[in-house]
Amino acid sequence: MIELDTSSLDLTRLPTHVAVIMDGNGRWAQRRGMSRIEGHKRGKDSVRTIVEATRKLGIPYLSLFAFSTENWDRPHREVNALMSLLRRYLRSEIDRMMHNEVRVVAIGDVARLPSSVRAELETAIERTRDNGKLTVGLCVSFGGREDIIHAAQALARRVAAGELAPDAIDEANFSAELGTAGIPDPDLLIRTSGEMRISNFYLWQLAYTEIYVTETLWPEFRETEYVAALADYQRRERRFGRVLEASPSDKLGAARRA
Ligand code: IPE
Ligand code: IPE
Ligand code: MG
Repeated sequence: MIELDTSSLDLTRLPTHVAVIMDGNGRWAQRRGMSRIEGHKRGKDSVRTIVEATRKLGIPYLSLFAFSTENWDRPHREVNALMSLLRRYLRSEIDRMMHNEVRVVAIGDVARLPSSVRAELETAIERTRDNGKLTVGLCVSFGGREDIIHAAQALARRVAAGELAPDAIDEANFSAELGTAGIPDPDLLIRTSGEMRISNFYLWQLAYTEIYVTETLWPEFRETEYVAALADYQRRERRFGRVLEASPSDKLGAARRA
């Protein structure tokens, strides 16, 4: 397993779920005069590092945005290369995942994947299903809007079948129809390569997630950058719309009233 310097972290206050928009592979390669595909290949090593670091830290959930519904519109050559990398990643990592007790789940429209990729994915999901240390959600052919639409359709079917009253639709049964059913909402979203946008990743799930954007491109995002993101997260004050502490003037008022 990799070496991790966690001296800047409070290991008792780590996030439960980290989600990552792994962006910047193409730019990493182009800056070196290489093809975008070389960047995706290098990005695969960052995936392995971040999965291992997450496991080592004891963070129980990791979501990796690997391929969006919009990414299907990239040139065929690039789409094919990404699909073949995904297949090879799954094949080469499965033994390591078994050893590290990592479970793989797929989040997204898996039916759209080429059958060879789907088969490899199904094998990985099946083989790792009882692993309990870390759940890695591979978001492939995933779109936040599509996820919400699928949930709405599932609930509408239950309403039409008379199983559910329209007014009984709530956050709990809506979440249960999303691709992330059973997985808590992310505490931390990391986006590499500096873009300040969500790019149709988790739309529902990120409602109160802390967002961390780094200029580092995904192929260069390794354990040091990851620890820095987690340390930044630990400096945030998560309020969830509430007021956490009495302000000094409140305290003064209370003292005057006493
Ligand atoms: C992220 O890198 C990988 C995928 C979206 C599949 P990009 O391919 O988007 O790289 P940039 O953003 O063009 O540099
Ligand atoms: C988001 O990155 C999707 C993934 C990382 C899988 P993109 O590169 O596709 O997003 P945009 O085009 O910069 O918004
Ligand atoms: Mg990109």
